[in-house]
Amino acid sequence: SQNIVVPKGKDDVEELDDEGTKKVTIFYGTQTGTAEGFAKALAEEARARYQQAKFKVVDLDDYGADDEEYEEKMKKESIALFFLATYGDGEPTDNAARFYKWFTEGNEKGEWLKNLHYGVFGLGNRQYEHFNKVFRHTRQIALVVDKILDEQGGHRIIEVGLGDDDQCIEDDFNGWRELVWPELDKLLFDGDDAVAATPYTAAILEYHVVFHDDQVEVIENGTVNGHGVYDAQHPCRVNVAVKRELHTPLSDRSCTHLEFDISGTGLSYETGDHIGVYSENLLETVEEAEKLLNLPPQTYFSIHLDNEDGRSPITQTSLPPPFPPCSLRTALTRYADLLGAPKKSALIALATYSSDATESERLKYLASPAGKEEYAQYIVASQRSLLEVMADFPSSKPPLGVFFAAVAPRLQPRFYSISSSPKFAPTRIHVTCALVHDKTPTGRIHRGVCSTWMKNAVASEESRDCTTAPVFVRTSNFRLPKNAQVPIIMIGPGTGLAPFRGFLQERLVLKESGAELGPAVFFFGCRNSKMDYIYEDELQTFVKDGAISELIVAFSREGPSKEYVQHKMAEGAADLWKLISEGAYVYVCGDAKGMARDVHRTLHTIVQEQGSLDSSKTESFVKNLQMTGRYLRDVW
Ligand code: 2AM
Repeated sequence: SQNIVVPKGKDDVEELDDEGTKKVTIFYGTQTGTAEGFAKALAEEARARYQQAKFKVVDLDDYGADDEEYEEKMKKESIALFFLATYGDGEPTDNAARFYKWFTEGNEKGEWLKNLHYGVFGLGNRQYEHFNKVFRHTRQIALVVDKILDEQGGHRIIEVGLGDDDQCIEDDFNGWRELVWPELDKLLFDGDDAVAATPYTAAILEYHVVFHDDQVEVIENGTVNGHGVYDAQHPCRVNVAVKRELHTPLSDRSCTHLEFDISGTGLSYETGDHIGVYSENLLETVEEAEKLLNLPPQTYFSIHLDNEDGRSPITQTSLPPPFPPCSLRTALTRYADLLGAPKKSALIALATYSSDATESERLKYLASPAGKEEYAQYIVASQRSLLEVMADFPSSKPPLGVFFAAVAPRLQPRFYSISSSPKFAPTRIHVTCALVHDKTPTGRIHRGVCSTWMKNAVASEESRDCTTAPVFVRTSNFRLPKNAQVPIIMIGPGTGLAPFRGFLQERLVLKESGAELGPAVFFFGCRNSKMDYIYEDELQTFVKDGAISELIVAFSREGPSKEYVQHKMAEGAADLWKLISEGAYVYVCGDAKGMARDVHRTLHTIVQEQGSLDSSKTESFVKNLQMTGRYLRDVW
């Protein structure tokens, strides 16, 4: 068969309003699918536990067409759980943006919230918060929603849970989930006549695999060229037109400048947007996976969901979407995340298919609550990849269906700040990407999937047989001031330069068309002027042509001591304060945990000292800059 049965989960079934049946709605705001996976996993377990209740999993974007519909439907909810991811600099995810705006910006939500029992689980990066509590707390999507629900009379059934992306977010989720059950027991069993909850067993799901004889790949990877509306589910396949190395041969690192050709695709973007790129695994990585699976690369197959009734099988995580029929080589190249750390659910799946009992037991132990410390050590701290783990447990040979459903997650798109402006390069999207190439504690060389793919890409200006990729654009709020005369301060060391290159191209075009430009100060930083001073010539030209009024560069490994952008900012504190007092916008782009945190602190110091403010006035000054959109950060 060539047909792919798209899993139609119970989630798609229309609301059931049988009298007397209690209903629980589980909402999710997801960017890369983790929140969605948790929502679905919770629903699956809940369905097994509470046969007398209905559980519905809802994408916040699909919930209502407009504010009115949101309100109308919300009024009817009595028990709701929210899984809300925060991404970027405290933004709601794309699919939660409309809901979030309605929920946070509206007035009092009214009496009806008093009927709602709710719980919120937030997904994000906890480390962000620590560097500035006030700054982050006001922007943690889950905390904001939880607070409003509470203030307006909703019944919080459980403390807000926070999952940390940097640690083991599955553990955070599992911990929270255990706290949810006793509360749902109370609500769904009317308090006393609680039946013993069905213990949750992680049944290994069955993807039904069909092997094909014909070897023709018919369907492209979800590409809808000419469709006009592209998103993560409908990316647009484009050519790589240009590729350049930005570091000099003296550098021992690498940074790639890539240009995607978007002419004739209908794909468009704004200066400051991000591009999502679906890249491919290296051939050597794929070959290793083939060896570990013990299957020939030309194995041609498609995946189907076994259950005819469309009910998704019971798993700890949601079922990844199927993909078009293709060879194993293609499936491993395009769809499988082979280098990430395996999740606990993947270890359980591997254990189930281990022929060696010792290996199976050990895998189960690693995934169990008792093996928590060992998981943290053996998987997380050692940065063990899925392939490394499979190599350590050679008796585990999961069948293809299980491998693509439960072991290897789908390869996710990677996001980059676009480094061009459509005003300057309307048919191109430029990307500036540093190569990820690190030695892990086990001695493995970890090659970033997408950065390696970019470095190896073949450009159409070099060969007709050029590299292509499915891509889509994600909008951002990282925008130049509407009035070009407003001063701007840009801070972007390393590849943090990317969106500013777009800003500067745009300013150049504006200037050429007669606009008057306000001052623009750019703080750039790199290691050494002869190694990684990326786009140096272009920056000099921006200065000469008036797009930049002052270019200040910090070289961190050139002089006797480290010089970083924030040191240069401190030196120019008086000038910066003058610009800020005149209404300047401040932009920061680059590494969140080191650079952006230190720059944030330096900005506080400058405001405090130059403005002679006490620390609480300083806090509110900087916060106000942020609230009014004059302090914008594009950090990762
Ligand atoms: P380093 O590698 O010498 O530490 C771009 O990556 C530049 O940012 C490099 O010069 C790098 O310096 C510098 N950098 C590293 N950590 C930083 C931090 N916390 N603040 C500002 N710049 C930093």
